[in-house]
Amino acid sequence: MKAPVRIAITGAAGQISYSLAFRIASGDMLGKDQPVILQLLEITPAMDALNGVVMELNDCAFPLVQDIVATDDANVAFKDADFALLVGARPRGPGMERKDLLEANAAIFSAQGKALNDNASRDVKVLVVGNPANTNALIASCNAPDLDAGQFTAMTRLDHNRALTQLAQKTGKHVTDVESMIIWGNHSATQYPDIAHCKVDGKPAPELVERDWYENDFIPTVQQRGAAIIKARGASSAASAASSAIDHMRDWALGTDGKIVSMAIPADGSYGIEPGIIYSYPVTCQGGKYEIVQGLELDDFSKQKMKATEDELREERAAVEHLLG
Ligand code: NAI
Repeated sequence: MKAPVRIAITGAAGQISYSLAFRIASGDMLGKDQPVILQLLEITPAMDALNGVVMELNDCAFPLVQDIVATDDANVAFKDADFALLVGARPRGPGMERKDLLEANAAIFSAQGKALNDNASRDVKVLVVGNPANTNALIASCNAPDLDAGQFTAMTRLDHNRALTQLAQKTGKHVTDVESMIIWGNHSATQYPDIAHCKVDGKPAPELVERDWYENDFIPTVQQRGAAIIKARGASSAASAASSAIDHMRDWALGTDGKIVSMAIPADGSYGIEPGIIYSYPVTCQGGKYEIVQGLELDDFSKQKMKATEDELREERAAVEHLLG
């Protein structure tokens, strides 16, 4: 039996975690042979609800679960954590400006960055799901000077998976037939879902679909899918967000076997995106590390879309600059 790994989840009494915690506990993230200790964080007023979640986790009698910690103290939740999924965030309230939202979340993610810095495993892998995810990840990382900035990532895998399905359905193929999908930039409506390098069943995707569909249907559909789910369901994507968080962490930890996936990671100058923001790139993962896929050719359309989402991330950064330490 392998030694257990410690997995911290914040916002653990929320919607996404109600799927996420159970799927991690059943072995979907790290495999059916990897015991886990769940370290669940909530704000104090949500502790009763969190205790209910713990009761249900216990009632599942998951063979892989070695222990469950439920706390409102980030130092306890992140103690020796090998993986940290930062899901909890402040939602936009009535009358709240975008800047207020960025600031409210900046306060949460700077405190959590410090707590990770002081308590987590030195190899912790951090995934920020709570919105605005890319900038929240940047703030957490800037407040964790003893950890490598590359240990902080944000989730664009849900956008990636949404794009796979849209293209598969359009071409009458299965999602597993689609290769090399890319989401560039921010997890927001400026993201750029790029099919220029995609193959469907071995054939170049741009030759299989009309340009008009790509520009005026596919791109906006993927960019606005979150809003469409809220409209249809009356609540934001939860099970699909949890599923994508599991895909992100599993691939990062266990590898992608050469397959390209999208992860928002610290920009390093690749493709002209200068450091200082967390930007979604095409990556492959191996041995617990991710690597940006290099050498892809970009046309003017792509360059312009990539710049627009970069500009938005730099604006978000400017709004919280004073909190970056
Ligand atoms: P929710 O509102 O159901 O749950 C959030 C939970 O976080 C609440 O229980 C709340 O008490 C908790 N929380 C708030 N502040 C906290 C703090 N400082 N420490 C610990 N817990 C805290 O929301 P849901 O649906 O679970 O979504 C969570 C976040 O994920 C939202 O910000 C949402 O916008 C984002 N999201 C991101 C996606 C992505 O693709 N990156 C996709 C879908 C949602």
